[in-house]
Amino acid sequence: MEISIIGTGYVGLVSGACFAKFGNNIIFVDIDKDKIEKINNGITPIYEDDLEDLLLKYKDNFKATDNYEYAVNNTDITFICVGTPSRKDGSIDLSFIKESTIEIARVLKQKDNYHLIVVKSTVLPGTTKNIVLPLLEKDSWKKVGRDFGLAMNPEFLREGIAVNDFLEPDRIVIGSYDEKSRDVLRKLYKDFSCHLFETSLSAAEMIKYASNCFLATKISFINEIGNMCKKLSVDAYEVADGMGLDNRIGRSFLDSGIGWGGSCFPKDLHALLSWAKEEKKEAKIIESVIEVNRLQPIKLIELLKNHIPDLNGKTIGVLGLAFKPNTDDIRESRAISVVGKLLEEGAEVKAYDPKAMNNFKGLYPQIEYCSSADKVLNSDAVLIATKWEEFKKLEYKGKIVIDGRRLKEAETAKIYDGVCW
Ligand SMILES: NC(=O)c1ccc[n+]([C@@H]2O[C@H](COP(=O)([O-])OP(=O)(O)OC[C@H]3O[C@@H](n4cnc5c(N)ncnc54)[C@H](O)[C@@H]3O)[C@@H](O)[C@H]2O)c1
Repeated sequence: MEISIIGTGYVGLVSGACFAKFGNNIIFVDIDKDKIEKINNGITPIYEDDLEDLLLKYKDNFKATDNYEYAVNNTDITFICVGTPSRKDGSIDLSFIKESTIEIARVLKQKDNYHLIVVKSTVLPGTTKNIVLPLLEKDSWKKVGRDFGLAMNPEFLREGIAVNDFLEPDRIVIGSYDEKSRDVLRKLYKDFSCHLFETSLSAAEMIKYASNCFLATKISFINEIGNMCKKLSVDAYEVADGMGLDNRIGRSFLDSGIGWGGSCFPKDLHALLSWAKEEKKEAKIIESVIEVNRLQPIKLIELLKNHIPDLNGKTIGVLGLAFKPNTDDIRESRAISVVGKLLEEGAEVKAYDPKAMNNFKGLYPQIEYCSSADKVLNSDAVLIATKWEEFKKLEYKGKIVIDGRRLKEAETAKIYDGVCW
């Protein structure tokens, strides 16, 4: 199939590269000229396992451009994969969605054949039907169902293992305006062996939000239990293992620590909460999940102060800056509030992350960035904020280590304290 992908971030680029692997031809569209140039040279603008290999291998199956006219006219399906960030008040910012929809509609106006538009970005329930659809009809002067199709196909990939998640999903959710739109997506996903869950546009949008809110709830829940376990000298990981054996509960997303971050959970929970408030609906669980998560990284500093009460002038090492391992993404990383609190207390901070240091420098240029993980150990105490594989190999003997991520190998330290264990 001939597919155009609007927005070449984690979702757009990974989706396009994976669709190319299945023999489709892809035209990527972005407003960022630097990204376009990189993609056309087979270089990935983001770090993601296996992505560069895919881009190199299927180089002849895609091109990148900033030209909507070229992209929409030369394809049959357009996926909208632009960002849907939070506004300052937490509500969803749909400006990229609206801008890209209008651009697509302007090209549709001159196009004679049927075209399917698919929203893949995470948008609040009702957005595809009440915002995207009217914009498409108004600016194209065409009619949905007759001249063009419309679908909502939320994405569940996780950064760090995005290519694998895209290629081996648990399920694919297809919300569609009509049968014809659904048929096109059935054909596109025919080689995937997982369940294709077919539903309405708005239910597809809500499935994405409800899934993210539920997963974040599991983590905040186990962190609250973990904080109690710490007080009781009980290992929260043993508790999670015992709970997880119950099929109704499951073991995943029950690793306690300093909380969740990233580009999705924080903004999606805030967006749904903000919508609920506007609609005067209660969202007490989501509100608490966010609050537990806000306080959790600070527990790391509280523990540290049990061992070094005055941090002023002390050198504190921070291992890990990305919001999770295998990514360079620092959006809402727990390390941000950890480093912020250390600086507030007057500590000197030295940090290391295999991929995320450049991004972190934009936020905290004043801290010392080490060229390797072992250099961070040369500090008065070390905090573990992200569980990178390479941190397992460090020599922790003789050190003070406060662990936010349950790195068993660090237990050999002279003083070892875990946030929930
Ligand atoms: N990152 C994830 O792990 C993930 C997972 C599932 C769903 N999502 C959702 O997918 C969407 C995209 O997320 P992302 O992380 O890929 O975002 P991103 O910020 O990494 O990338 C978005 C891209 O869109 C481009 N863009 C913005 N406006 C444009 C326009 N008018 N025309 C063309 N390109 C434009 C930007 O330049 C950028 O390259 C969001 O709604 C997000 O919530 C993200």
